[in-house]
Amino acid sequence: MRCRHLPLVLALLAAPALWAQALPTPAVLQASLAAPPQPVTVIEPHLSVGGKQVRLSYLGYPIAQVLSAHLGPDWQKTPGKEIKFRALDGYVSRIPVERFAKHRAWLVLARQDGSEFVVDNLEQNQKRVPLGPYYLVWDNIAAPELQAEGASGWPYQVAQIALRTSSKTALLPPGLAPGFEVQAGLAQKFCLNCHQVNGFGGDKMPINLAARAKQIDAATWQRWLLNPSAVRPGTAMPPLPEGLADRETVARQLHDYLKALPVSE
Ligand code: HEC
Repeated sequence: MRCRHLPLVLALLAAPALWAQALPTPAVLQASLAAPPQPVTVIEPHLSVGGKQVRLSYLGYPIAQVLSAHLGPDWQKTPGKEIKFRALDGYVSRIPVERFAKHRAWLVLARQDGSEFVVDNLEQNQKRVPLGPYYLVWDNIAAPELQAEGASGWPYQVAQIALRTSSKTALLPPGLAPGFEVQAGLAQKFCLNCHQVNGFGGDKMPINLAARAKQIDAATWQRWLLNPSAVRPGTAMPPLPEGLADRETVARQLHDYLKALPVSE
């Protein structure tokens, strides 16, 4: 009985598509990269709220090195594609390949000072959130423009990485009026890590925003996106990042876009 499925299991394990998904444990990763993890210091966006800047140092590997080892070296030559990071809790971050050429990122696996690999997620009212197995961090000291984006693009508890085609078709379907490219990008960056549009997005809170937005009036929408904790104390929904210029406009643009987006699921 034990051996009957072995050939199938081995065949599945050898399939490149599956290898591309699940990340190995930190110990296996370290062995496969044949180098110890390096220190990296960032302004930790989960702690840097209310105008504060909190620096933390982690240990990890340049993401380009990890991606080349696990997706093959050609991942960088595929413009129009995205790297999909999937967390243990269903949070999904889709990051355009081009962004990794523009900014430096690391996949980290421990705190440099040896303290527990956790962070307080102040905007989501959560304390001591485990970051492992992996956490994607960015050199936002060299690139201060990243600080304005808050923690979007910083997935933690990352367990799977895959190369995916761009989300354009899901976000800009043929039935949508033209001119919503910017808005679709904003939804992708700030909302679809947790929510979905027509089945595309994250599973942390998989409501269909294309449907939900049509039921919420403009004022309620604004209040909710700018300060969810004021509407529902203790909520795990984060506000639009404080550092973002013109948050009111961004919130309105998202509403306009999601109201216009046809519901297909
Ligand atoms: C980190 C995950 C996360 C992100 C990112 C996020 N949300 Fe949410 N959202 C939640 C959670 C969790 C809830 C449920 C909140 C509750 O009931 O306390 C929620 C609820 C909602 C609701 C439902 C409110 C209701 O009462 O029906 C809407 C609408 C919404 N989010 C819109 C957005 C939009 C638009 C964005 C992007 C600007 C966004 N969310 C980004 C986690 C997130």
